[in-house]
Amino acid sequence: MIGKNMQQALNQQINDEVYSSYLYLAMSGHLEGLSFRGMAKWMRQQAREEMSHAMKFFDFLYERGGSVTLLDINQPQAQWPSILAAFKAAAAHERSITEKIHTLVDKAIAEKDHATANFLQWFVKEQVEEEATLAPIVSRLEAIGDHTGALYYLDHELGKRGE
Ligand SMILES: [Fe+2]
Ligand SMILES: [Fe+2]
Repeated sequence: MIGKNMQQALNQQINDEVYSSYLYLAMSGHLEGLSFRGMAKWMRQQAREEMSHAMKFFDFLYERGGSVTLLDINQPQAQWPSILAAFKAAAAHERSITEKIHTLVDKAIAEKDHATANFLQWFVKEQVEEEATLAPIVSRLEAIGDHTGALYYLDHELGKRGE
């Protein structure tokens, strides 16, 4: 059975993953409003993935004989000054989540909770992917600047996600 401390920390991570989903959904709406439908679709898919991350923690807690107490979800920002700013915020958010996952691993190891440490390895790998996916999008947006044509080309490309 999972220890109380570890349980509380994983319970908090459910909240962070649901908040991630909420944040990307807000970004999706913002991009939809600007008619960048490919980027909006990309963000919507990202929101779905974050919800599935929350569910992995949810299921794991019950598997280990723990339980879940859902917490309040913070209201995400609704507007960003530019598309670059939105994707930069997404990249920064992922870096902050990576730190949280690493802190959870440290905690699992300190508590000799090998089952949780092992479970978290999936997230360690996932965070490498998340950061590696966002970084080139940010770089491209920086290079694009305000070339509308290139921006719509990237929009089209990102809209292919999940196809
Ligand atoms: Fe996540
Ligand atoms: Fe993520």
